[in-house]
Amino acid sequence: MTEKDFSSVSYTTLKEEGVVAYSSPSNIALVKYWGKRENQIPANPSISFTLDACTTKTKVHYKKKNNKNGEFSFDFLFEGEEKEEFKPKIKTFLKRIERYLPFLKDYHFVINTSNTFPHSSGIASSASGMSALALCFMQMERSFVENMTMEYFNRKGSFLSRLGSGSACRSIEGPLVQWGESKVIEGSSNLYGIKYPYNVHPIYDNYHDTILLVDKGEKQVSSSVGHELMHGHPYAVNRFAQADTNLDKLKAVFSNGNLVDFISIVESEALTLHAMMMTSSPYFILMKPNTLSIINSIWKFREQSKTHVCFTLDAGANVHVLYPESEKDVVFPFIKEKLVPFCQNGQYICDRIGLGAKKL
Ligand code: PMV
Repeated sequence: MTEKDFSSVSYTTLKEEGVVAYSSPSNIALVKYWGKRENQIPANPSISFTLDACTTKTKVHYKKKNNKNGEFSFDFLFEGEEKEEFKPKIKTFLKRIERYLPFLKDYHFVINTSNTFPHSSGIASSASGMSALALCFMQMERSFVENMTMEYFNRKGSFLSRLGSGSACRSIEGPLVQWGESKVIEGSSNLYGIKYPYNVHPIYDNYHDTILLVDKGEKQVSSSVGHELMHGHPYAVNRFAQADTNLDKLKAVFSNGNLVDFISIVESEALTLHAMMMTSSPYFILMKPNTLSIINSIWKFREQSKTHVCFTLDAGANVHVLYPESEKDVVFPFIKEKLVPFCQNGQYICDRIGLGAKKL
């Protein structure tokens, strides 16, 4: 599908008012997206596990406005309370998606949203939050047209989510979603994420992601600034090529279930992401001493236990600990005993691979 497919919808009815609601998960990238062109076009392809427990629930009440003043009109409530500070981000999002949803200025919206994970946990809420809101608008659009296919709904939902936050486009479906043009993934696109279209070995069923909350503070450098610093970065060209190669390698690993190879790709991607940050100009470090202590403990334990526990990181200090369902009885007690002490206030989240957003 092309951008044009998403802007040329004709509506049969525009309802007076209604309510739509979606729950959408976060996701954790295995091959990382870091670096973009205009309009959230990724500099390299990425792939992620969709998560299950970390979700945003969003309910939108919409009502036709009496006076069409050519402005966006909405109230925004987070966990039941009005949050003025979140409104500029929503407004920017509405501006970006208006040309694909031309009814937006005809309505007043009351947007009610909440997260299943603590807001200040350092878990990026933009992927789950932007995708949940995008899907609410898609649900509205679906009720204005006849026979929208599920494929169109998911593609456009992902396309709109991307305009809110790049990685949000990987939260619509699951368990594995790929985003960004790649020669090795048929149907891949820079415009939206697609459900990974090839065979996946059952070892990845129910894969665990225990998220260790190492530092819950505000990040010193936002992802938008981080992406920006990939322009003119001395290693950018090689990094983007490496992501292509890693995606190709992962394809084999998903099909043959070789977890040793899986680990070497996933951990290398995590460290490369942070290496790009450390070699940006200006440079920055988002890991904390406890991030490194956790990584070292995982390496030591993996060696001793002959298990396949590994880590990945997103743009922050928290550590995502990944392991197969078949090893949880050995790995989880290790996490609780040896890794949780490195978490801020002992906080962690037990998550696992999930199937994507749900209509509420
Ligand atoms: O979606 P953004 O712009 O917040 O970027 C997210 C980038 C990483 O989380 C670091 C990697 C990824 O692919 O999700």
